[in-house]
Amino acid sequence: MMQRQEEAQEEDLFDRFKEILTINPALIGSLTSIAFIIICWVIRDSLKVKDVCEKHVFITGCDTGFGNLLAQRLYRKGFIVIAACLTEKGSQELKACTSSSLRTVILNVTNPRSIDNAVAYVATETGNKGGLFGLVNNAGRAIPIGPTDWMDIEDFHRVLDVNLIGLIEVTLKFLPLIKKARGRIVNVASVMGRLAFGGGGYCLSKCGVESFSDSLRRDMQYFGVKVSIIEPGFFKTGVTSLEIIEKDLNRLWNRLTPEVKHLYGEKYFEKYLKVQRLSMNTFCDSDISKVTNCMEHALTARYPRTRYGAGWDAKFFWLPLSYAPAILADVMLKLILPRPLGYKRVLSKNQVDV
Ligand SMILES: NC(=O)c1ccc[n+]([C@@H]2O[C@H](COP(=O)([O-])OP(=O)(O)OC[C@H]3O[C@@H](n4cnc5c(N)ncnc54)[C@H](OP(=O)(O)O)[C@@H]3O)[C@@H](O)[C@H]2O)c1
Ligand SMILES: *[C@@H]1O[C@H](CO)[C@@H](O)[C@H](O)[C@H]1NC(C)=O
Repeated sequence: MMQRQEEAQEEDLFDRFKEILTINPALIGSLTSIAFIIICWVIRDSLKVKDVCEKHVFITGCDTGFGNLLAQRLYRKGFIVIAACLTEKGSQELKACTSSSLRTVILNVTNPRSIDNAVAYVATETGNKGGLFGLVNNAGRAIPIGPTDWMDIEDFHRVLDVNLIGLIEVTLKFLPLIKKARGRIVNVASVMGRLAFGGGGYCLSKCGVESFSDSLRRDMQYFGVKVSIIEPGFFKTGVTSLEIIEKDLNRLWNRLTPEVKHLYGEKYFEKYLKVQRLSMNTFCDSDISKVTNCMEHALTARYPRTRYGAGWDAKFFWLPLSYAPAILADVMLKLILPRPLGYKRVLSKNQVDV
């Protein structure tokens, strides 16, 4: 009895659905078009370039983190990888866990001579083999990071010089070799380049990378050069290492004037560290292959995407929030980030003055 009733209900629903479709051809049309567009996009997105074995890829910042994993994975895929490391130690360790035939160079992106040497090396390596197919600008640093009024201009320089000016100089100097190959440039930005929080040069530098990459993509399209931007969320690597961030925060806190310390409240620093630990441990993903998969797609897909959001937090929290009205982002960030404890004292003092 029950089953019959259910069947009748199901049939009823089905009939109504059919009815809606027959009286509403526009709805059918739109649904079919959407499905068709999605299928075409998925197929287009999955097409690959041919002959990776003859292609050279140059990656910066390969000592650790994303660059290190990407170098190993592209090498195993058959690319001719030239992994640039900041230190000799990083280079030796990478070779030890990949292969001694992996090519490495020492590159400090803030040093013009060092960049020139790397370009000369890659020019000889690629010789008359058609230029450089891929440049991955991955090298970067995050510290000093903390409240804006704890910083001096040197603190800003230290990050901007690596993440933005260094990236621009490397790109400009490699461009002739990339144009020759009608190759690709993959720039590592961050969700913090889309939504700025946490003072210091980091957000500025990543916002600059976004902007530089947009202009570059538009200027280089005529030469067959493709530019992609990677926007990772939070991942467990050197740049998010709490030990390093906290050590530098200590330096910033200890050099503050008593006035500024008073504004924040003596307990603020401890609370700041606690809240930061909690949010970093919540947000940081240890599966960094989510990022290198995006980089690999940008290098191997026939039609690389312009932007790649990497990680769940980027896709479903930071990037959507970056499109939201500033007031909403302000409220959300206020809930997440630590706040000064002495600010109430300042407010009441000002009120008395009035
Ligand atoms: N991890 C995240 O949550 C996250 C999120 C968004 C974006 N990113 C970006 O992803 C990129 C890679 O970082 P990662 O997370 O893989 O951290 P990482 O392990 O610290 O890697 C950064 C690499 O860049 C190198 N580097 C630092 N200064 C350099 C310089 N002046 N010249 C050349 N190389 C230099 C570092 O060398 P040393 O180790 O020797 O200092 C390190 O090998 C960075 O641009 C970072 O901003 C990271
Ligand atoms: C990178 O180069 C800059 C500027 O020349 C220098 O101050 C810095 O110490 C160098 N970093 C390393 C690790 O060699």
